Amino acid sequence: MVARVIPVEPFDLVVFGATGDLARRKILPSLWRRFADGQMPPEGRIIGAARSRLSTEAFRALVAEALNEQPAATTAERAAIGPFLERLDYVTLDAGDATGWQMLGEQMREGVVHAHYFSVAPALFPALAAGLDQHGLNRPDTRVVIEKPFGHNQASAQALNAMLARHFDESQIYRIDHYLGKETVQNLMAVRFANILFEPLWNARFVDHVQITVAETVGVNGRGEYYDAAGAMRDMVQNHMMQLLCLIAMEPPYRFDSDAVRDEKLKVIRALDPVQPEDIVRGQYRAGGGGAGFADEVGNPGSTTESYIALKVGISNWRWRGTPFYLRTGKRLRARASEIAVTFRDPPHSIFGEDAPWRANVLVIRLQPDEGMTLRVMIKEPGPGGMRLKDVALDMSFAEALGGELPIPDAYERLIMDVIRGNQTLFMRGDEVEAAWAWTDPVIAGWEARGERPHPYDPGATGPEDALMLMHRDGRRWREIR
Ligand code: BG6
Repeated sequence: MVARVIPVEPFDLVVFGATGDLARRKILPSLWRRFADGQMPPEGRIIGAARSRLSTEAFRALVAEALNEQPAATTAERAAIGPFLERLDYVTLDAGDATGWQMLGEQMREGVVHAHYFSVAPALFPALAAGLDQHGLNRPDTRVVIEKPFGHNQASAQALNAMLARHFDESQIYRIDHYLGKETVQNLMAVRFANILFEPLWNARFVDHVQITVAETVGVNGRGEYYDAAGAMRDMVQNHMMQLLCLIAMEPPYRFDSDAVRDEKLKVIRALDPVQPEDIVRGQYRAGGGGAGFADEVGNPGSTTESYIALKVGISNWRWRGTPFYLRTGKRLRARASEIAVTFRDPPHSIFGEDAPWRANVLVIRLQPDEGMTLRVMIKEPGPGGMRLKDVALDMSFAEALGGELPIPDAYERLIMDVIRGNQTLFMRGDEVEAAWAWTDPVIAGWEARGERPHPYDPGATGPEDALMLMHRDGRRWREIR
């Protein structure tokens, strides 16, 4: 039997920004869970680096606090907190000051994988990249992990790529899009390419349209300044939703390896049509339900930033010409629900007569919560009374199908282990990010030039009314968010 957990090689992982929010909420808890599961070897070591003057003990105490706050930890994970903390060290490091770099250099071991996680504000990326180079910490096999946002438009992404290229080879750079680490997102590739069933139908001849929804109930959660400058288009569409669209629309890669997969995704991004103004609906939540409105929450009363966006996107290639992709995402919506729904076309002829009730087949892949898949199919309603047709759901919850034995790991767990393993398949390549911005920039420039304000919507709704029209005018409807 193949072991489920294969330990990765021994490593030194430096987390820059180790006292920050992302490290506390995601990076360190993910490493701890991999440690508890036996995937992080005992020789794996994490070195926290940040400006705060902290001893290693004080850093470990901070991390212990963060781990104890983690929900739903198993007994084994709780028991692993102590041994995990022993794998942590801390270095006080100011990127512009040589002392911290020297101390870090002394900590790094020979003969293990070296990875550096830049969990800091993007303004600090150049100083960290230069610091690694100047202090002899950039070996040919050193890996750097870059968090989003990766630029805020094509020009800034190009500048960031050019800066990184001055220090590192592309094979050393791991640009994170955490959606690619989600189990169900990876499952899109398994569903498409490990089954014969869907691929023959996966084109404009048989698919009427695709809906991609990422609905959130949360607001901007203390990230007002960043979010007001970004909006849903930059925060979610340019990266996460674009990646989902690519995995649904791409041609089969010749094998599951990093460049083969990324080459195919890039071709999809390049084939995206420019979005027409009438194919975009932007929204902003107003105050309600005891909560402040978006503009108050971000501290900018005149804000015209969107907290919701719906778009109709076309792909100009042989496979997809004529099948629209409808994308929508927003904050403070009715429910947290992310899914991809592929709606197939009607059969060319109904042998049951023109009046037979008809519902198109739909394949729904639920990304979160309750990860799973549903296929809606037509059957005959049992019993006498003629051939009465009805559509029913073939429904599968992955948790139930797998006997509830395998907890679904956080995206960061998978991605950080992939960095140590040296596998870039689930990370974005530089050209991919630039191409995604090249498509995004004119869309944003368009609504800025037209001076458009987003449509208000109530918190707890499914978005602005106008978003419904985007589908209605094409004779289609959004799936319910619940
Ligand atoms: C982040 C965005 O990248 O993804 C957030 O910046 C968003 O605004 C988050 O809330 C959504 O991630 P998830 O994993 O909760 O769907």
